Amino acid sequence: MSQKILSIKQIKEDASRELEAAADIDAIQALSVRYLGRKGFVTLFLRNISTLPEDQRPYAGEKANELKSFLKQKFENKIEKLQAEAADAEKYNSIDVTLPGRKGDQGTLHPITIIGNKICDIFLRIGFDIAEGPEIETDYYNFEALNIPKDHPARDMQDTFYTVNNLVLRTHTSPIQARVMEKVKPPVKIIAPGKVYRCDSDITHTPMFHQVEGLVVDKNISFADLKGVLTVFIHQIFDKDTKMRFRPSFFPFTEPSAEVDISCVICRGKGCRICSNTGWIEILGSGMVHPAVFENVGYNPEKYTGFAFGMGIERIAMLKYGVDDIRKFFENDIRFIGQF
Ligand code: PHE
Repeated sequence: MSQKILSIKQIKEDASRELEAAADIDAIQALSVRYLGRKGFVTLFLRNISTLPEDQRPYAGEKANELKSFLKQKFENKIEKLQAEAADAEKYNSIDVTLPGRKGDQGTLHPITIIGNKICDIFLRIGFDIAEGPEIETDYYNFEALNIPKDHPARDMQDTFYTVNNLVLRTHTSPIQARVMEKVKPPVKIIAPGKVYRCDSDITHTPMFHQVEGLVVDKNISFADLKGVLTVFIHQIFDKDTKMRFRPSFFPFTEPSAEVDISCVICRGKGCRICSNTGWIEILGSGMVHPAVFENVGYNPEKYTGFAFGMGIERIAMLKYGVDDIRKFFENDIRFIGQF
């Protein structure tokens, strides 16, 4: 089908109008084919020149070629313009790689975890193993096995959370002593960290807190061994200048029993608010394992002796970090717990 030959003027008008309407590069390329392609309007016009009267041919040829380059240029210009616009849009919409990166939030260990780990590390280095026990404990392990019978006044020392079926929330980590000794023969050298529960709440007490229990049993273990181990521990967790003293005390599961004080780490023994002007701060309970406890777990008290101790992790953390309210450890204020 042969196409109609249009006049130069007509071609120019049509092409300009269509180019104006062309919205994208594809449309312009189609226009280019339509006007300048092998069967395009301009090409057809040029081919048709030979049919014109001879004197008109040079003029028509010149005009047609001018139109050809004019349109070619116009198409190219508009394609370039659209390409530049697209590149700009791409630049604005895509990621700006020059922006500084966003930092992810980095977590920190809870101060109680940090101090608990430090305590365990010290004992692990001097040959202790770690033992664990249940937080929901039987009355037997929490009390009876530890020489605290039902009607014993010592039960009042610990404000126990009783549950059902003779189960309690363990009030200390000492039941782990009995559980370990029931299972393994001496020598025993363990520490047992964990959560404990007491119905108590003020600036130095929370209903849940953490303890680390220690237990060493073998032939010929003496109070001197207890003192040696605790001296190493206190010098490492605080510093070499920290003094330690035993103060006679009572626990049903140790005999003799002693509480351990350290020289106040805040005032260095001079006397301050923290140590109630005594220069000393209590940090743990200890003693030689009571023969009745050995009997309960099937150890021969004639053959073996041992020592045990128990300390509060929060208390050590408060002293080490100078924290004056234990409840801060459990309020989960990220500004507080992220400081350590
Ligand atoms: N269980 C005791 C308490 O919670 C501490 C302790 C442990 C004392 C071991 C003596 C021996 O107070």
